[in-house]
Amino acid sequence: MNIKYLKPNNIKIISRILLDRLFGLDFLKTVLSEDVGLNPEKVHRSSPSGNVYLKELLKDFKIDTQDSIIDIGCGKGSAMRTMIQFPFQKVDGIELSDVIAKIAERNFSILKVKKATIFVGDAAEFKSYEDYNMIYFYNPFPNSVMTDVVKALIASLEVKKRELIIIYNNPICHDIIVNNNVFKKIGTYPDIWGNGIGIYSNYDLSHSRLLKNKKILLDPSN
Ligand SMILES: C[S@@+](CC[C@H](N)C(=O)[O-])C[C@H]1O[C@@H](n2cnc3c(N)ncnc32)[C@H](O)[C@@H]1O
Repeated sequence: MNIKYLKPNNIKIISRILLDRLFGLDFLKTVLSEDVGLNPEKVHRSSPSGNVYLKELLKDFKIDTQDSIIDIGCGKGSAMRTMIQFPFQKVDGIELSDVIAKIAERNFSILKVKKATIFVGDAAEFKSYEDYNMIYFYNPFPNSVMTDVVKALIASLEVKKRELIIIYNNPICHDIIVNNNVFKKIGTYPDIWGNGIGIYSNYDLSHSRLLKNKKILLDPSN
């Protein structure tokens, strides 16, 4: 092995991958889109984001059993693995690649998780967004796909009026989220890479049930 890869963070990741493997789990190993027959211009690689940054952020929401979250582009389920530690009613994921979705299903079956369902398909065509009041993205796709997914989220608000929180890790399509005048950015949290995790909502903070801790890391405009 090349010595340059033996940095503390890499050693930590490699040891976590090996530990998972002991239990037959595979949450962390990155998969390139082209390796599962998908177009890298429309589908970003599958890499994990279930980490302490996501856990700390979720602690600031007043999550209970009336809340359900869907990870759009859930990959192998790494972020969902962090989410299931909170009292959500449902922690679901949608994944375009059936190969990757099968790995996620196997992970949650080994862990005997009952409240997680993996849907296989294109997030732009998913028909049940009204079942969720929280959405998670970790940079799954570019603007062209995000445009259709945001349209589907807005359509779901017509089916079921509700507070809808979007947690967007590495929010490269920020403009697409806010351009429709439905969602506003209400805060930013730190992430591992430095691009931040954006929090968006269709509700003002004063009407929000989910944001119990309103003083931290909010945008100065609020
Ligand atoms: C960066 S990974 C994120 C994995 C997971 N959300 C996490 O944070 O641990 C992005 C995933 O989105 C999936 N994806 C990309 N385009 C998609 C689409 N249109 N519909 C559903 N999933 C998609 C990719 O296959 C990839 O597994």
